[in-house]
Amino acid sequence: MNVTQRAFEVAVRQVGAHAASLIRPGMRLGLGTGRTASAFLDELAKRLDEDLHLVAVCTSLDTEKRAREMGIKIDGSTEEPLDLDLDGADEIDPRLNLIKGGGGAMVREKVVAERSRRFWVLADDKKLVAKLGERQPVPLEILPFDWRGTARRVSAACDCRLTLRGADRPFVTDNGNLIFDLKFPPGRLDPNQLARELARIPGVLGHGLFLGTATAALISDGNTVRVIGELDRVREVV
Ligand code: A5P
Repeated sequence: MNVTQRAFEVAVRQVGAHAASLIRPGMRLGLGTGRTASAFLDELAKRLDEDLHLVAVCTSLDTEKRAREMGIKIDGSTEEPLDLDLDGADEIDPRLNLIKGGGGAMVREKVVAERSRRFWVLADDKKLVAKLGERQPVPLEILPFDWRGTARRVSAACDCRLTLRGADRPFVTDNGNLIFDLKFPPGRLDPNQLARELARIPGVLGHGLFLGTATAALISDGNTVRVIGELDRVREVV
């Protein structure tokens, strides 16, 4: 493990431990996907002898398997809203807008985040950016049917470089679909405009822009955890 990976591990473990210490008995949780969400589950596992009686909706098959092994009760539906969703992100801007989907789970992640009264993003401080798109691509989940036609429409709608994830052996999501990653030239991503354009393209099933969804972020630099936003802020969920 190199120095960067080691620093990441330390930071996500720290933020995971902090978030796990804030979980209260009886909560209905959304459980995210990825390395940071997994570090949170590692830390939460240390508290399970406290009879927390947690119920969770999981954002991926991997997370669901893990949560079941931990003895957390799984609910497959957000019909009853969740108290709190905890998930990682690939980029976080100063207003808590996010790019997610590095692990390809962003469509389920968005379903769960939008049905949660609070959505906390957990991350190391390297995920903070001044403007979305600085480093990471925006992932899209794409219907396999006529994906080349969808690629043409997406390329025509935005000034970006489009790649099919896993070009030799395409990455398939838990929903049986494909992923396009859209990389923008520096400063060229307008998240709201892109979201509007993508909504008009039928083969695009979802994307990794989470705009105005997060209610707080817990960020670790490896030494301390700081909070951006308010942990107690609660959103109305319809
Ligand atoms: C999963 O699809 C993603 O949205 C992840 O939450 C995001 O990519 C962050 O993952 P890491 O915690 O592994 O960096």
